[in-house]
Formats: sequence, structure tokens, C-alpha cells
Amino acid sequence: MKLTRVPSLKSADDFRRHAASLGIELPCDDRILIGNASPLAQPADGVLINGKRIGNRYAVQPMEGWDATTSGGVTEPMLRRWQRFGQSGAKLICGGEAMAVRPDGRANPNQFIINEENRAGLARLRETLVTAHQQRHGSTGDLVIGFQLTHSGRFCKPNDQSRLEPRVACRHPILDRKFGVTRQEQVWTDSEIELLIQDYVRAARLAWEAGADFVDIKHCHGYLLHEFLGARTRPGKYGGSFENRTRPLREIVSGIRAAGNPIDLAVRLSAFDFVPFRPDPALSRPGKPGPGIPEDFSLPYRYAFGVNVDNPLEYDLSETFQFVELCRQLGVKLLNLTAGSPYYNPHIQRPAAYPPSDGYQPPEDPLIGVARQVNVVRQVKARAGPGLLLVGSAYSYLQEFLPQVAQGVVREGWADLVGIGRMVLAYPEVFTDALTQGRLEARRICRTFSDCTTAPRNGLISGCYPLDAYYSSRPEFEELKRVKG
Ligand SMILES: Cc1cc2nc3c(=O)[nH]c(=O)nc-3n(C[C@H](O)[C@H](O)[C@H](O)COP(=O)(O)O)c2cc1C
Ligand code: SF4
Repeated sequence: MKLTRVPSLKSADDFRRHAASLGIELPCDDRILIGNASPLAQPADGVLINGKRIGNRYAVQPMEGWDATTSGGVTEPMLRRWQRFGQSGAKLICGGEAMAVRPDGRANPNQFIINEENRAGLARLRETLVTAHQQRHGSTGDLVIGFQLTHSGRFCKPNDQSRLEPRVACRHPILDRKFGVTRQEQVWTDSEIELLIQDYVRAARLAWEAGADFVDIKHCHGYLLHEFLGARTRPGKYGGSFENRTRPLREIVSGIRAAGNPIDLAVRLSAFDFVPFRPDPALSRPGKPGPGIPEDFSLPYRYAFGVNVDNPLEYDLSETFQFVELCRQLGVKLLNLTAGSPYYNPHIQRPAAYPPSDGYQPPEDPLIGVARQVNVVRQVKARAGPGLLLVGSAYSYLQEFLPQVAQGVVREGWADLVGIGRMVLAYPEVFTDALTQGRLEARRICRTFSDCTTAPRNGLISGCYPLDAYYSSRPEFEELKRVKG
């Protein structure tokens, strides 16, 4: 497949023509609107989080760190990242970074742990962000900050960067082999889950005491609570029926409330999924993975959430809609939608022109991946009742057209907020430049090189090595170049 690079599209007309040639629907304004003329500058009405109205429609997505101390404590690179999130001007910090609710639930030995020992560090992360925001943007009464709570389940590597220690919701015909699940003891028992729920409840209390406006109970990307949503083959009270598969969420929420914790609630959900993908072996060379193809699977495919069980290369949103309604009933105020998993089908989760080292060449134009997520959020938004704000994901691949598409999406009411991940690592001032100058600095735009994923996949800290001198001046950059060959 010959990819049309986004920077080669010189105008909104070019962009729209290219989108039409791919058969996708994405609104794209003629130019970036500034100040109050931009739909993105408007506060998010209708829902207050911790009594606050979110001051604009830009959100910073959660991005896991690989740079805490080995006891999960705060370090200088983490503080810098949170400071830059605050400087960005986004008024919603939608989780900061995934924080493990217990040490063995970390996806890497240097992931932040939200526990008593790290209480002061947690408060410091938030204060650093608020101070940076205040210095650059003045008001903070409309800045809403949440912490993302997680257990990494199948992808746990809590002690050693090179050793998986998976704990899964259920056995999986493809992923067990890839992630070292060989024994029934690696599957959670019901009584172990009851204890884990208490860890979430404790973490939510710490979050509230550290000044968070909300906690995001992470249900995405193949991590543990997302895996529960697809645990159709699991017996017992946490598997099988939709009611059982969503029991962990209901018990976490009731535990938080029973403990008298008034913190507001969010959920990040992989709204749909596909089967795992792998590089096509026939077209791969050493160090150069081929284009992605689906792993072999048999039907019905009963191992994921939001997927058509009879054709798992298509989504099925019927349970997604049910889950959204459940969230609303539970009083969840923010729903941040994403898709799939960076570990087994990154092209649907994080559309990119250049794959990470454990990925594959794009099997489709990455713009199709962006449009798939945007249109799923649109469908959910059309059905979600009042009282729930919807955040969309996967905008970074839009590059220079990010603000123009985001404006259109928010104006059309397809999403309430646009959440941005990689672009913020590369270029934290992207929102401010768009809203104040109506243009972006081309040399700072994230080109989806995937080094922020390749580095941690190879035991190095994550960061935007190509565009952020803080990382390119580190010794790890040399190591990264060596890994990439
Ligand atoms: C380095 C890195 C770390 C990430 N960590 C998390 C995380 O901790 N929690 C989460 O929900 N998503 C995480 N994501 C996914 C992003 O939040 C986002 O969904 C994804 O990058 C697509 O958005 P984008 O196109 O704006 O980058 C991470 C992404 C990157 C690049
Ligand atoms: S390393 Fe930088 S340019 Fe590459 S995908 Fe990550 S943020 Fe974007």
C-alpha cells in the first residue's frame, strides 16, 4: 500500500478529497479558528465535575510513564511531563497517566503506584500541573484533573522489564501464547477480585485526598477491567453474562460510594475491538515487520468486547451502548472512548504512519483508523443520554489538520471534547497555538514515528525522542537508535 502522507496534503480541500477517496467521513474546516470563534474554546456545558465546568474542549489523554522510581514514586521526568500537560492549555486532564492500584498490577517496573507511600508525590504531580497552568493561562477554576486507575492484567511486568507476570480474567486462544499465560493459577479467582476491588476503592480515596476532581476507572486497551468486559467464557459471578462481566465496575463504584468518597467518576473504554494482528511473515524482513494481518481465529470469536463474534474484523456496538447506559446509571460523568489495544492491534488504537518495534506496517491508511474512532464516538454520542460528557481519541495522526477536524467534530456535536495523546508529548503548545494564532509550527508536529512506544517496548523510558530535546539529549536515544537499527 502506498501511503499518502498527511503533510503532502496542502489544503483542507486536499484533505477532504483524500478522505473521500478513502470512503471515510471526517469534517474538516477550511482553516483553524481562533479565540471565541472556535468551538474548541467553548466550555463544556451540562455537566459539572467536582462543581467545575470544563473551560474548553481540549483534553490531554492519559499516557503511561516508564519513569517512576521502582517503588512507584515521583521523579523529575514525571514532574516535567505533568508540568507540560498543565502548560498545554487543555482544560481537561483525562487521567494524567495510568496509575497502578497495587504494585503487582504495574505494566512496567517504573509505573506510578497510587498507594499510601506515594501520597505526597501524587499531590505534587497535581500541584505542578495546576501551577504551570496558572502561570501560562491564568484561571484554574475551569481546569479539571483526574487520575487514571489501572491494573494491567495480561500485560503486567511489575518487577522486570523483560518478564511478563500476567494475571488474566480468562483464557484466550491467541493472547495466552503471546503473553505467557500457561496455567490456570494465572486466572483471577472471584475472591481475589473482591480484594482487588478494595484496592480501587482505596486508590480513589487517595486520589480525592490528593485533590483530584475525578478518577478514571480504566476499561480499555486489553488491561484487566477491559478484559473482564469480554470474559464471556469465564465461569462464575464475574464472567459470562453482560451483568457479570460489568460487575467489577459496579462493585468498584458502590465501594467508593460506601466509603463516603464523593469523588466524580470517569471511565475510559475501548468501545470496540478486533482480533489481534501480526506482521505478515511473507512480507517481513529482519528488523522490518511486514503489514499487519489478522492472527488466525476460529468462530464464534467470544474473547473480546465490542466485536462482531461472527466476523471479528468488524465492530459490534450493541454491548457498548449497553455499557454506556450502565455508566450513566452509575453516575459516571465522563466517558473517554478509545479502541482495541496497543499490544495486539495498535493500528485501530493509535493510528500511525510508522509502526513501533513490536508492531507492523499499517494494514490500512491510518486516517481510516482515525475516522473509525471518530465515527464510533459519534454513534455513542447520538444515543448517550444527558449527564455524560464524551471524549474522543486518536486525533494525533491528523497532524496539521488536527484543529480543523476537531473543530468540525465538536461543532457537529459528534463528541464533547477531543482528547489528544502523542501530539501533546511532541508539542504541548499545540492547543494554545491553534486557538491564539490559528496555525501550528510544522516542525513540532507529531509525525507518529512511534518512538514513544518503541522506547518502552525495549526497556527505555518513554518520551518524544525525535522532537523533544530533553529526550534526544539522553543516552537512551543512542540505545533507541541501536534498537531501531
Ligand atoms: C506513550 C503512550 C502512553 C500511553 N499510555 C496510556 C495510558 O496510560 N492510559 C491510556 O488510557 N492510554 C494510554 N495511551 C493511549 C493514548 O491515551 C491515546 O489513546 C493514543 O495515543 C491515541 O491518541 P493520539 O492519536 O492522540 O496519540 C498511551 C499512548 C502513548 C503514545
Ligand atoms: S515519539 Fe514523538 S513524534 Fe513519535 S509518535 Fe511519539 S510523540 Fe509522536
